[in-house]
Amino acid sequence: MSITTQEEFIQSNKKSWDEVAPRFFGRTALPTFGPFAPLESDLNLFGEVANLRVLDIGCGSGHSLEYMASRGVSELWGIDLSDTQLEAARNLLKANESILKLFQGPMENDHGLPHHYFDVVYSIYAIGWTVDLRQTLHNVFNYLKPGGVFIFSWEHPLHNRIKYENDSFVVKKSYHEEGIHQSEAWNIPAMMNQMKLSTYINELIQTGFQIERVVEDVVIPEQTEPDNPMRWYSLEKAALIPPTFIIKCSKPQK
Ligand SMILES: C[S@@+](CC[C@H](N)C(=O)[O-])C[C@H]1O[C@@H](n2cnc3c(N)ncnc32)[C@H](O)[C@@H]1O
Repeated sequence: MSITTQEEFIQSNKKSWDEVAPRFFGRTALPTFGPFAPLESDLNLFGEVANLRVLDIGCGSGHSLEYMASRGVSELWGIDLSDTQLEAARNLLKANESILKLFQGPMENDHGLPHHYFDVVYSIYAIGWTVDLRQTLHNVFNYLKPGGVFIFSWEHPLHNRIKYENDSFVVKKSYHEEGIHQSEAWNIPAMMNQMKLSTYINELIQTGFQIERVVEDVVIPEQTEPDNPMRWYSLEKAALIPPTFIIKCSKPQK
């Protein structure tokens, strides 16, 4: 894909996010990793974060950063494409202004953030928006200190392949098909990057990360009322395939 096309996708996603941001404020944020995924309190992927420097990729309205502030981190850094999201994050994190640094721009670019600096880089439901996974992972790797960890969650790549039709779930698209596509879940331009789970894992390994854990577990809440299986994230579908995956990896010490 040409650089111009990539930039066009990023610009069109920025426009869409600026428009829809208020509908998403705090919707998917730590301690939640994503729909029907176990919580951080169950997984303890981050461990003790007090006095650590953290960077949130696709920080959105800042709700995950707020969670990190509540756990006593020493520095809160975030990158996001959307000005509307960042304005919400600045308002939300007013009390933490002295340790907050927010940057507007695509995660695909290195924004001049310090290299070999962060103890933890994380990204909650944002990485699938990258039009260049390899470059994004290289940036994250550079930002991290040796021994630092990168934790991210995203929609499981099987999830949008399967649809509910005529009382059953059917495979509508090949799992093998990868690349940038207009998301069916959005009715305005939203170019997302479809990648297999193995692609994420192999790109992480190629960048130099060590994989620590891959989570595909699903938590089905006790439901008193029947759910609608037509919903994008439905309980019935989650009982069959994971809506969310989470990967924890680390930058080797040497
Ligand atoms: C579902 S929201 C993330 C929620 C957020 N992580 C939280 O914890 O509250 C996805 C975010 O990704 C951002 N985004 C989309 N494409 C991006 C890109 N190329 N680079 C950086 N951020 C991007 C959007 O502006 C949006 O704020």
